[in-house]
Amino acid sequence: MQNSQERGAWGSRMGFVLAAAGSAIGLGNIWRFPYSTAQNGGAAFVLMYIIFVILIGLPVMIAEIAIGRNAQLNPVGAFRKLAPRSLWAIVGMLGVATGIGILSYYSVIAGWTVGYFVKTISGDFSSLITQDVSKHIFESFVGNPYNAIGYLFMFVIFSAVVVMGGVSRGIERWTKILMPVLFILLILLTVRSVTLPNAGEGLVFYFKPDFTKITAGTVGSALGQALFSLSLGMGAMITYGSYILKKDNIVISAGYVCLFDTMIAIISGLMIIPALYFVGLEPEKSGPGLVFVVLPSIFAEMPGGFIFGAGFFLLLSVAALTSTISLLEVAVSYLVDEWKLKRVKAVILMSMIAFLFGIPSALSFGASTWFTKLPIINMGALDLANVILGNYSLTIGAFLISIFVAYKWGVKSVFKEVESNNNIFYYGKFWAFMVRFICPVAIFIIFVYIIVTGEYF
Ligand code: PHE
Repeated sequence: MQNSQERGAWGSRMGFVLAAAGSAIGLGNIWRFPYSTAQNGGAAFVLMYIIFVILIGLPVMIAEIAIGRNAQLNPVGAFRKLAPRSLWAIVGMLGVATGIGILSYYSVIAGWTVGYFVKTISGDFSSLITQDVSKHIFESFVGNPYNAIGYLFMFVIFSAVVVMGGVSRGIERWTKILMPVLFILLILLTVRSVTLPNAGEGLVFYFKPDFTKITAGTVGSALGQALFSLSLGMGAMITYGSYILKKDNIVISAGYVCLFDTMIAIISGLMIIPALYFVGLEPEKSGPGLVFVVLPSIFAEMPGGFIFGAGFFLLLSVAALTSTISLLEVAVSYLVDEWKLKRVKAVILMSMIAFLFGIPSALSFGASTWFTKLPIINMGALDLANVILGNYSLTIGAFLISIFVAYKWGVKSVFKEVESNNNIFYYGKFWAFMVRFICPVAIFIIFVYIIVTGEYF
């Protein structure tokens, strides 16, 4: 086994749970979940999302953590070690590439949150009342290439600096302090949002399922959203799992992470959707700008909105940062373990790649007409990356990972790993059934369904 001093390890069980929750909780919950829900018909989507978290997310998370802790390696190294001389290492490579790809466009949105923090403290929203003004501010901000690329660059640097600091010193310390504060702020904003005029309509949209709105596309998006939000399907949890202690119970830890992550997503939807009706936006027409357009209107309706606004965007940047560091860490640990690169060099190399790939996404909100509406597919570069990498690649990854643990590495090996140090594998039989039959079959059916109906995007 490798020297765990060198690789680093979490300080405690809470250390792992917090860091993994830090990876899971991020823009996926607060930025992506509300607008995916709005676009995909509301309550029925939320319901499918929760079902996927339980039936597919939790089992795959347990599998990923077990792989990571057993192999004590990055995703590529882990598959190589557990299935030597096989093609399984490709699943790890797909994960590394997906991670850098997601990092590239994720950092664009994360950059916006920093930009919005700066805008709030410089008083841009102090006298904001109408939706049109908010929309205009948003469009001119993201349509400006210097802003878009500048903030992307800044955010990539932030992530690089933390990841250079190493696992426990850099990542763990941040998450512990700031996550609880973010949670409290979310609750306060949600209370304001649900008490706004017309919020009732939003609550109906959010809680009363209309099953006629379910299509192949919405099912695929709900599954993609669940995996994205839980950081699954690309080896982030394999990597973080390689730093979890032997005495920790994998099932309990994974359960906590899924619970926290889902709670934050549901609360974020409750914060945004009712406010959408207050400002008079149609949910179906919402997109990646939703949170940025709607939130300033809520702040304007609150006493001390300035403080709430500034605090919110600052904490959202931090939540995004604890996710980007996990995306970057996957590729970095791969280069450190497999290519014996120094951590600093690996970080610089991978951040540069992420920055360059992020540029088309950064320019896809008006700064470049070409990237804003790509020919033939009629989509923006960021939207395209978000669907291909953030939905399909993760779904394929989760499919292959469940096949791997069920039929290659073996359910027995996972039991041995989870039960090491006299730990109990709670619901072990249920897990084995899910990962053998439900996860791969459900994902397969959803894929076929999407392809047959032609709902690729
Ligand atoms: N789960 C993170 C979020 O919700 C994003 C992420 C996806 C992080 C995949 C790592 C791996 O914001």
